[in-house]
Amino acid sequence: MNEVILETRGIRKAFGKQNVLDNVSLMVPKGCVYGLLGPNGAGKSTLMKMFSGMIRPDEGEIYFNGSKWSRDNLKDTGVLIEQPPLYENLTAVENLEVRTLLLGIPKKRIQEVLDIVDLKNTGKKRAGQFSMGMKQRLGIAIALLNSPSLLILDEPTNGLDPFGIQELRDMIRDFSDQGITVIVSSHILSEVEQVADYIGIISEGVLGYQGGMKQGKDLESLFTDVVRKNRGRELCC
Ligand SMILES: Nc1ncnc2c1ncn2[C@@H]1O[C@H](COP(=O)(O)OP(=O)(O)O)[C@@H](O)[C@H]1O
Ligand SMILES: [Mg+2]
Repeated sequence: MNEVILETRGIRKAFGKQNVLDNVSLMVPKGCVYGLLGPNGAGKSTLMKMFSGMIRPDEGEIYFNGSKWSRDNLKDTGVLIEQPPLYENLTAVENLEVRTLLLGIPKKRIQEVLDIVDLKNTGKKRAGQFSMGMKQRLGIAIALLNSPSLLILDEPTNGLDPFGIQELRDMIRDFSDQGITVIVSSHILSEVEQVADYIGIISEGVLGYQGGMKQGKDLESLFTDVVRKNRGRELCC
């Protein structure tokens, strides 16, 4: 069995009276691409925010490399959750510079990450004038600055055209080839299917399926089964 980089045990989270995550036990093998699949509102972003220290679970534990998760693990984690956190009035380089200063990362890493996401030569253009795809790339560049061993990408294809989606998929595979574990969420089945080694299907806060992506696996019926089973669950306490 592979080593596990990230594990959750019995995670629960409620916002007010709404139970958003219910007993979620996730297991992410090291070096894999883990696709977290689920319809809108399933709880994907909420779960991913827990891996980046933005939200705490009400119950349950998170383990990173076998030890209880702590903020120290953020040094090894890169995140892009929901919208890229950009200063719209700054250029790509300046956006990255702010982070290198904050995190004490050598400046030369800026060109490296811009190369990786293929976002060179944007010069004086400010991030606010970037296309959606460029903003996403810059968001990924920011996530890569600290050379993470775990990269969390929350619906990274949002707003991308089919070509951009293909490029992103190739990028994710490259990260994985370099030994970076990637957790990527999507509400679109085909996006996860084409890139993931493992998948977790979450619906209404319940992880209804988790396992390896085997050839010929009928992901569509798995997905609909899980969604159907949890639809209309009594989510209010
Ligand atoms: N900060 C918050 N306060 C209240 N409800 C929230 C908050 N964040 C998320 N939710 C609710 O939790 C549920 C899951 O949201 P989310 O994790 O964003 O789903 P997904 O990313 O799968 O679309 C939704 O019903 C959403 O409205
Ligand atoms: Mg989301």
